[in-house]
Amino acid sequence: MENIKSLNKEIFVDSEEISQIVTRLAERINNDYKDKDPVFVVVLNGAFMFAADLLKQIKVLSKITFIKLASYTSDKSSGTVKQLIGLNENLKGKDVVIIEDIVDTGLTMQSLRKQLLALDVNSLEIAVLMFKPHKFQCNYPIKYIGKEIEDPFIVGYGFDLDGYYRNLPAIYQVKE
Ligand code: PRP
Repeated sequence: MENIKSLNKEIFVDSEEISQIVTRLAERINNDYKDKDPVFVVVLNGAFMFAADLLKQIKVLSKITFIKLASYTSDKSSGTVKQLIGLNENLKGKDVVIIEDIVDTGLTMQSLRKQLLALDVNSLEIAVLMFKPHKFQCNYPIKYIGKEIEDPFIVGYGFDLDGYYRNLPAIYQVKE
């Protein structure tokens, strides 16, 4: 707890830049979905703050639903798989936009995409606040990217360290 309290961190993306990023993404989504009836699927926990700010600026009639991903290790060599839990919206035939805080290796999103595509959605796009292109191990498209970053450890604005710091209104880089 003491280490957590005295965490050495410096600002990485301030509130103003976050706000600009979110507004830019919302404008694109409003334009792309103006004649549609999308469902936004928010991936908890990390995306809660980004999703709240983004969705406040969405003008098209839409539904919002929340899911979690539960990790478990499969028997096969595939290692850790993330199972979708908590989906209570019928997505068949819908235009779905996943809202996530970060795509790092991309494996979490790859697994989620597969599970949502299997539900026979009409279309599926991804909106992500932070993307690490150098860590990305997959090859699916990510249509809405807030910011590309290298590999800092970040906290705040939904990003946590052991569950702490998610509430900070800006994003901080943790220093050694
Ligand atoms: C984070 C993030 C993504 C995943 C990205 O989730 O929210 O779901 O890691 O990593 P990947 O691209 O390498 O798969 P985390 O498990 O930290 O949960 P949280 O959202 O509750 O913080």
